[in-house]
Amino acid sequence: MSKIAVVFWSGTGNTAAMAQAVEAGAKDAGADVTLLTSDDFTADMVGQFDAIAFGCPAMGAEVLEETSFEPMFSAVENSLTGKKIAIFGSYGWGDGLWMRDWEDRCRAAGANLVADGLMANNAPSDSDLDECKSLGRSLC
Ligand SMILES: Cc1cc2nc3c(=O)[nH]c(=O)nc-3n(C[C@H](O)[C@H](O)[C@H](O)COP(=O)(O)O)c2cc1C
Repeated sequence: MSKIAVVFWSGTGNTAAMAQAVEAGAKDAGADVTLLTSDDFTADMVGQFDAIAFGCPAMGAEVLEETSFEPMFSAVENSLTGKKIAIFGSYGWGDGLWMRDWEDRCRAAGANLVADGLMANNAPSDSDLDECKSLGRSLC
């Protein structure tokens, strides 16, 4: 059974809803899934999982959330070489720059991104949640 972590930060619940759908999709596909916030994930945990989904909304000016998620991800990214990962998050008024920059970072770290970053505008719609489930399945 593949072991998957879904690690996210969410201020108003939109990315949290996406994370729960990613978790549900991976569970449907038979994975052993652990849902964690960015406060509870550290670089030394990367090796415990076969695949990791990271979720964070666009914050600041088109950046990852800066007090919890960014410090966690900076500490973790050098451990992601060859690791199967997925990234997702909600955004408001931007054009997805934060996600494109994040994809570039993941690829530069040598991570195996299973899909392009998955974005939902504000609260995820039913079809966004279906895509999140499918992303979770694709990590298995
Ligand atoms: C402080 C702050 C900064 C934000 N910066 C951006 C931004 O740069 N680009 C964007 O598209 N949305 C931005 N947003 C909107 C959030 O990404 C959007 O509300 C998202 O749905 C929040 O997700 P969450 O419910 O998981 O916290 C910002 C929101 C806040 C509160």
